[in-house]
Amino acid sequence: MAEEQAKPGGPDLALGIAYADLADGGKLLGHVGDDEVLLVRRGAEMFAVGAHCTHYHGPLADGLVVGDTVRCPWHHACFDLRSGEALRTPAFDPIARWSVEEGDGRIVVGRKLAQPAPKRRGAPTAAGPKQIVIVGGGAAGFAAAEMLRRRDYQGSLVMLSNDDAPPVDRPNLSKDYLAGTAPEDWVPLRPDSFYAENNIDLRLNTNVTGIDARSREVVLADGGRVPYDRLLLATGAEPVRLSIPGADRPHLRTLRTLADSRGIIERAKTARRAVVIGASFIGLEVAAALRTREIEVHVVAPEKRPMERILGPQMGDFIRSLHEQHGVVFHLEDSAVAIEEKQVRLKSGRALEADFVVAGIGVRPRLTLAEGAGLAIDRGVVVDAYLETSAPGVFAAGDIARWPDPHSSESIRVEHWVVAERQGQAAALNMLGQRETFTDVPFFWSQHYDVPINYVGHAETWDELVIEGDIAAKDCVLRFNRKGRTLAVASIYRDTESLQAELTMERAAMAVPSR
Ligand SMILES: Cc1cc2nc3c(=O)[nH]c(=O)nc-3n(C[C@H](O)[C@H](O)[C@H](O)COP(=O)(O)OP(=O)(O)OC[C@H]3O[C@@H](n4cnc5c(N)ncnc54)[C@H](O)[C@@H]3O)c2cc1C
Ligand code: FES
Repeated sequence: MAEEQAKPGGPDLALGIAYADLADGGKLLGHVGDDEVLLVRRGAEMFAVGAHCTHYHGPLADGLVVGDTVRCPWHHACFDLRSGEALRTPAFDPIARWSVEEGDGRIVVGRKLAQPAPKRRGAPTAAGPKQIVIVGGGAAGFAAAEMLRRRDYQGSLVMLSNDDAPPVDRPNLSKDYLAGTAPEDWVPLRPDSFYAENNIDLRLNTNVTGIDARSREVVLADGGRVPYDRLLLATGAEPVRLSIPGADRPHLRTLRTLADSRGIIERAKTARRAVVIGASFIGLEVAAALRTREIEVHVVAPEKRPMERILGPQMGDFIRSLHEQHGVVFHLEDSAVAIEEKQVRLKSGRALEADFVVAGIGVRPRLTLAEGAGLAIDRGVVVDAYLETSAPGVFAAGDIARWPDPHSSESIRVEHWVVAERQGQAAALNMLGQRETFTDVPFFWSQHYDVPINYVGHAETWDELVIEGDIAAKDCVLRFNRKGRTLAVASIYRDTESLQAELTMERAAMAVPSR
């Protein structure tokens, strides 16, 4: 999603507006100098905050005000209107705030307020943990480390990652960055200096091979040991590999890391034609990115419709036709049986020319460490509502964690960016002893060309699919219901309804605490 540089519009809030122009509960977009400012009224209180989300610059004026917070319409970040703090990811940075004065029937926005100063760190306190180790430098691991320091955790913080890159904005690796419409400096979640400045001992290219739960140490591939008194496992998932003849050829790629994305970009520079195996979210995002680079793309997948299992047949048909309009050629109900130097052979007998091939056939959670440590496993690492595993003091978050989801009343494991980040944050607070249950409604987004698809909730199966609006017109809400209850809502350009659906699910879960 490209950053928009909108010219400040709306009234000049430094000159003020009439009190009557802003109803209770209302919000109004204006400006102060060159800054776009959102004015929000809650009863007698007024808040003036930056009008754009600090994630990808989403327009908060189109968001939802809930209590003393505002939620971003694009990927559901949430900001505190009083402090500006990013309460929910995918945003981490606060929004700016301005002072507001009222008098003579007018509301006037005054000076920009300073951001609260970062808290100073001193020696570890006697009561809390002194050594926290995070295994994984992805969404959950990064969000946990950032939250620990944000909440003034003062002890040692070691983050171990077998990747060679510091934490990156992984969703971008199959979207703007891969398409060549975002520069590489958009990709790191934080500049390299962040880790040293925050006393986070980030060790890259460091493979963790074991957990010694008795001595409370993690074991590294080089034999080194790192002691912990709280441990977070956030090892994520890895792409499922093809096991067909030719699967070891170097022009067959998968996509998980920055290095993988760079490798595909290098191939794309000299390629004319690519084959994508798998019509998954990642497979189709890769197809869209390669079409933006004007590469001929063929997609091979066994299903009848792309993404039907998650989004239903109507959305599946739409996604197929959207990609076809952009020149993608589908070979559905077919599969690859061999990768040759310049061709992919299909079960149907066809052979597709390919300068390179990308396989996006799903991912598998990385469970080896958890299994080796004897943690409870059930198609993922089993965690409780506090994200603690069966071993006290050992937490798990992100793609590996199966947690009791109060909304679907099921134990679920999902592979979503925002969920991984929020679980990392919740685990961080629980490692500090806060006893925060993880109750967030699952959310993910996917982007195909100019079409964003947002999805809140979780519905593995449904008995009713209600479609509001017009999918083909890219203006729709799909409700996935089971036994009369809405379990999930997918939408295109219906951001307010998506936010409202999330809120309704949150409130429903709060109303039935024992579910
Ligand atoms: C290309 C791409 C695009 C995506 N787009 C979206 C999207 O648009 N929306 C969405 O909701 N989700 C998206 N996802 C999914 C999302 O990125 C994941 O759900 C999320 O990254 C999971 O976070 P995590 O922290 O669990 O794992 P990861 O982010 O995968 O991080 C795992 C970390 O653990 C490290 N690690 C693993 N094993 C070890 C070990 N033994 N020793 C040391 N380190 C280890 C890895 O190197 C890595 O740093 C996308 C994923 C990919 C790959
Ligand atoms: S732009 Fe606001 S959450 Fe992404």
